[in-house]
Amino acid sequence: MGETVSETRDLFSKFDEIIQTRETLLASGVEDPFSLVMEKVLSPTRAICNGRSTILLGTYNYMGMTFDPDVIQAGKDALDNYGSGTTGSRVLNGTYQGHKEVEQALREFYAMDHAMVFSTGYQANLGIISTVAGKGDYIVLDIDSHASIWDGCALGNAEVVPFKHNDIEAMDKRLGRIPEGAGKLVVLEGVYSMLGDIAPLKEMVAVAKRHGAMVLVDEAHSMGFIGEHGRGVAEAQGVIDNVDFIIGTFSKSVGTVGGFCVSNHPKFEILRLVCRPYVFTASLPPSVVATAATSVRKLMHAGNKRAHLWENSKRLHGGLRAQGFTLGTEEPQSAIVAVIMPDLERGAAMWEALLKEGLYVNLARPPATPAGMTLLRCSLCAEHSSEEVETILGMFERAGKAVGII
Ligand SMILES: Cc1ncc(COP(=O)(O)O)c(C=O)c1O
Repeated sequence: MGETVSETRDLFSKFDEIIQTRETLLASGVEDPFSLVMEKVLSPTRAICNGRSTILLGTYNYMGMTFDPDVIQAGKDALDNYGSGTTGSRVLNGTYQGHKEVEQALREFYAMDHAMVFSTGYQANLGIISTVAGKGDYIVLDIDSHASIWDGCALGNAEVVPFKHNDIEAMDKRLGRIPEGAGKLVVLEGVYSMLGDIAPLKEMVAVAKRHGAMVLVDEAHSMGFIGEHGRGVAEAQGVIDNVDFIIGTFSKSVGTVGGFCVSNHPKFEILRLVCRPYVFTASLPPSVVATAATSVRKLMHAGNKRAHLWENSKRLHGGLRAQGFTLGTEEPQSAIVAVIMPDLERGAAMWEALLKEGLYVNLARPPATPAGMTLLRCSLCAEHSSEEVETILGMFERAGKAVGII
């Protein structure tokens, strides 16, 4: 007699719906928008995709630093002098001279007392949020927060209280209901990356401070570009001195990989010993911190690039609107211009039509997007020339007419 095997739930059954959506989409004959390969990358704004020279309008390379000659040279020198990796945690054998230098560059960039570098921006949010807000504390956050912010909340033991996107009154009410004496952390983003809209930080930071809360602002999509010195939306709105923690990433304007937190908090340095996503992972390779430090220093003096990127954003936004596309914001607020698609099928068809025209954009869909939207997200680069922006507009017009969106 054989033993009876008890029935167990298929652990993968929770993915059946997404498997089905994907199969239906691919059965329509459209190219898979989530497995594009860049066969060769020619510059911050051009790559070879499917054998064709393609304009890149879907990277986070806002300031075009990936091919900067000084940045590349710094990376090469570090590879030669320090090897390919650190093979260890920052608190053991993984702090090299380069890690100290990039933290110094960040302190100078933000004019803040402390900077702590993580292996990714995702880990920076995970680490700072879960470590700072613990049991009995409250995190009040915008409901459209990035996955890394939500995951930081999930990793910690604080009570998590979301409020409606960019709604100052809702935030005020949530803060008002927190029990007397509890620790409070408000978590906001400078630029929300799906629609490219910015937060009313001036008002929100004031409300948070009135309630005695600490404030963390994720400036992943604004660093390097927004604000006089490129410090982000908090700088642009004049409230950076009231923000307790700024989170940022090297994977966007800085042009490499890594994450960081800067702060003026007098006890900040203790986080290096108690923040698990900092302690229990290998530090960034020497070549990466060297490229990041060089890039951050160059971004301190990139006023002209910032101005050109604003011009690009305004021209693309205005041009797409004039063609009849529905956009994520009334006015251009960042380097992201989100084009709202009627549904996933037409979004994927439009994405493919643009790729055939020689233009790469990001197709974004739930759960990354708010309100179940399908978006074609365009992110501009300071290295896009004005002529390229006109070419892009021509591509959108042809593709939009072919797919029947405009
Ligand atoms: C708002 C925000 N925070 C954090 C991150 C994570 O950055 P990283 O790519 O360095 O992990 C992202 C990345 O897309 C982001 O959009």
